[in-house]
Amino acid sequence: MGGMLVTGGAGFIGTNFVRLALAQGQDRVTVLDALTYAANRSSLDGLDPDRFRLVEGSVCDAELVDRLVADHDTVVHFAAESHNDNSLRDPSPFIQTNLVGTYTLLEAVRRHGRRYHHISTDEVYGDLELDDPARFTESTPYNPSSPYSASKAGSDLLVRAWVRSFGVQATISNCSNNYGPYQHIEKFIPRQVTNVLAGIRPKLYGAGANVRDWIHVTDHNLAVLRILEAGRIGETYLIGADGEKDNRTVIELILTLMGQPADAYDHVTDRAGHDMRYAIDASKLRTELGWEPTYRDFESGLAATIDWYRENESWWRPIKEATEARYAAAGQ
Ligand code: NAD
Ligand code: DAU
Repeated sequence: MGGMLVTGGAGFIGTNFVRLALAQGQDRVTVLDALTYAANRSSLDGLDPDRFRLVEGSVCDAELVDRLVADHDTVVHFAAESHNDNSLRDPSPFIQTNLVGTYTLLEAVRRHGRRYHHISTDEVYGDLELDDPARFTESTPYNPSSPYSASKAGSDLLVRAWVRSFGVQATISNCSNNYGPYQHIEKFIPRQVTNVLAGIRPKLYGAGANVRDWIHVTDHNLAVLRILEAGRIGETYLIGADGEKDNRTVIELILTLMGQPADAYDHVTDRAGHDMRYAIDASKLRTELGWEPTYRDFESGLAATIDWYRENESWWRPIKEATEARYAAAGQ
């Protein structure tokens, strides 16, 4: 048998994960992805057909999930509705995919005794004040703010319950904000980069004092591979790379790196319930599993990401107009 089932592998982090896992010698990877608006099939182009397969379907489809789980050793669950702003417009697919989808996978791994890794977010912990010296750790109480983060928090708690009640062989990781290639252009960094490339002024929510803890997607995925290799069953690991930056600094850096005046952006309507700050203490991952980030310079990682969007216009151009139209309707 062997092999790894990767849900949500046609999305941003999943695509990068599949590419990394195959490059590191993983013998067989199957992606299960519903190919929602967030997916891009072409992100998986060029992979070795002898070791890689894409199955189009939902993690909520119990029969399909059962069959695929039975046929693989390991399940890595990335699939989710992932965008906070969308969850404020319509929470229903978040409840379905993030909660019912996770439940469906857990029942299948329970039946078949498979290894399961659950991909989650630091947003389950709520937010921190700007001047709070504290950072999130594995023992910070859950306190999610948005429908998205509440649905992810709920999915984490399902995993913990399935470990304790049924002995499911699972681990969980909660990571901070990722950046890098193949990220949907609804998200902050690629939205601003493609705005500049399309001749649209970048858009900053509110005053832009909100802080996110940026990590390159490859470092997130290297941590996940390390947890799969050596993580202790039932444990949660926080993933972060000491990358705290406020949004204003990031938007100004994007403009500067793209040869524009640093103030050539608009302030737009703030996000409802906007979390102020996320910050991760990844000591457990570092000391117990020996993981360290490989991208230590945000500016050069960002410059390479800008180059990727510049060189891959055919990947994002077809969805740019519709993405901006959705924001414009919300005054953003
Ligand atoms: P994404 O929105 O880019 O990709 C999600 C993928 O899941 C898409 O390919 C989509 O088609 C698929 N999907 C959605 N519903 C599905 C369903 N019912 N069945 C099967 N597939 C479905 O998201 P992302 O940014 O790559 O995030 C991946 C995971 O990582 C999510 O669980 C997210 O909560 C978590 N995460 C993201 C970040 C981040 O900064 N982006 C940080 C920490 C954790
Ligand atoms: O912390 C991890 C989370 O990071 C993940 O769980 C989510 O899946 C992922 O989307 C991300 O959530 P955020 O809400 O932090 O990311 P987003 O890219 O939507 O926004 C980042 C910050 O930028 C946030 O403070 C809102 C702000 N923003 C966003 C957009 C799209 C702007 O100022 N302007 C924008 O146009």
